[in-house]
Amino acid sequence: MPDAIVPGSFDPVTNGHLDIIERAASLFDNVTVAVVVNPAKEPLFTLDERVEMLQEVCAHLPNVAVDSFEGLLVEYARQRGATVIVKGLRAVSDFEYELQMALMNRRLNPNVETVFMMTAAEHSYLSSSVVKEIARLGGSVEGLVPNSVKQRLRQKVGFQKR
Ligand code: PNS
Repeated sequence: MPDAIVPGSFDPVTNGHLDIIERAASLFDNVTVAVVVNPAKEPLFTLDERVEMLQEVCAHLPNVAVDSFEGLLVEYARQRGATVIVKGLRAVSDFEYELQMALMNRRLNPNVETVFMMTAAEHSYLSSSVVKEIARLGGSVEGLVPNSVKQRLRQKVGFQKR
């Protein structure tokens, strides 16, 4: 199988992301989880923190590497020698935006194929934004993010109880 890229902001990585990464790792020879450097967004976690968290939670996957990229995703894929982009789809609401990106990426580089995986049903309502909001407001993120991410969220937003 070709090499694949799982791109995203991962601010922070959730159990939904991890599920997609694990399934991509079982399908493709080599998988690069690529954290985007997006100057337009102000993330909660720094780029280094997001990369570190991903390295921790992907440590059990020998064919998965974690990296970051700036600029066009298809250009990064070309440099990396990857011909597949893997994205997770949660609900119909994700579809329009993902279709637009997939078609635009194909136009930019027809040699890179976007492959969609359906998120596990229990993660279909999960997003990094919702996780951050729950954490900020002192709610429990148990079961939504890996344990190491839970600790980092606790440190970052300063909630104590959970
Ligand atoms: O986790 P996200 O924020 O939904 O990830 C979005 C991501 C990183 C996949 C997207 O923003 C992206 O590909 N950015 C790189 C810039 C680029 O290639 N833009 C053109 C896409 S049509």
